[in-house]
Amino acid sequence: MKKQNIGLVFGGKSPEHEVSIISARNIFNAINKDKFEVQLIGIAQNGNWYLETEANLLDKNCVIGKSNIQLAVVFGESQQKIMRLDTGNFIDVLDVIFPITHGPNGEDGTLQGIFTQLDIPFVGPSVLGSAVSMDKDFTKRILRDAGIGHAKGITVYQHDKDKLSYAEFEKELGKIMFVKPCNMGSSIGVSKVTDEQSFRHAINEAFKFDTKLLVEQAVIGRELECAVLGNETIDVSIFGEVIMDEGIYDFENKYINDNAKIVIPAEHISPTLLQKLQATAKNAYRALGLEGLSRIDVFLTTNEEVIVNEPNTLPGFTSISMYPKLWENSGLSYPDLIERLIQLAIARYNRDKQLSRKRIDK
Ligand SMILES: Nc1ncnc2c1ncn2[C@@H]1O[C@H](COP(=O)(O)OP(=O)(O)O)[C@@H](O)[C@H]1O
Ligand SMILES: [Mg+2]
Repeated sequence: MKKQNIGLVFGGKSPEHEVSIISARNIFNAINKDKFEVQLIGIAQNGNWYLETEANLLDKNCVIGKSNIQLAVVFGESQQKIMRLDTGNFIDVLDVIFPITHGPNGEDGTLQGIFTQLDIPFVGPSVLGSAVSMDKDFTKRILRDAGIGHAKGITVYQHDKDKLSYAEFEKELGKIMFVKPCNMGSSIGVSKVTDEQSFRHAINEAFKFDTKLLVEQAVIGRELECAVLGNETIDVSIFGEVIMDEGIYDFENKYINDNAKIVIPAEHISPTLLQKLQATAKNAYRALGLEGLSRIDVFLTTNEEVIVNEPNTLPGFTSISMYPKLWENSGLSYPDLIERLIQLAIARYNRDKQLSRKRIDK
């Protein structure tokens, strides 16, 4: 059988650029090379697209753009869509794109829009699901509308920055709050605040990354995560738990030091509670218009209330990442997971291809 040609897209104009390279390296290593041919497409920090080499991706000091083979995209119905600027030749026709780009410009619908316009099937949620799930303000509105547990929060805008005071928010949300940029990830710009001084600092930090912030009440509870997979039929994995010795689950604790312990499966979860957790994750996935995959992160309070924190539509795929590990522990191996994601991308593409884009004459 002819091998399918997969375009693995990584890097991106985002603070999670390096995390994305590590995710891509893992996917590249794990993908079944008997079934799939992989073309590496790296997006540099400045947004340029390059055809990358295997050697560069596998180098732990990988810098996107070393190859200097810059790429351009050509829209339209022809099969050949991605062109090398050095030779003017098109790269091999891609059957599916697997973007493993995190955060703004990667996970927020902007890239997904390009793939849609290029008319190439791609892994992960559509433009709408990606955009809505990237924005913590819109995620909350949809969870609220769907009657799904969420932390109370107030959205604030940069043009109102000077009017914001800790005391005003404390009245509504309590003494301990979280301040977050609405569109970011990997805890970048997220702070816990307990007084006016830490609030001010947090606001200044978060506005570096977005013009819109969420001030949220602190949830006291366990931090659990699950992996969701599917289009119309949705599978939810078992849950894993993030346990912090101290502090919050921030960028350092996620990727650099060992302060965060990940326990899979999460302990002391009864079958009934697991069912409730899985049902909540599934409802959130559906309400947010997600397809393909997402990791759904929740808090579990002491009285067993499930509070959805956030979806991650292109979660980390590093060797320590929760998403692939959760599936491994649920009986789906890393290479099989990759294959399943590719199948889901094609199934959605074929389904949507049936829709008419022309007025139908009676
Ligand atoms: N409302 C909250 N209550 C308690 N902890 C929170 C809350 N919001 C965020 N956190 C902590 O901060 C971390 C990062 O916040 P999160 O909303 O997940 O942002 P990101 O999208 O950057 O991952 C969470 O994993 C959790 O440890
Ligand atoms: Mg998070």
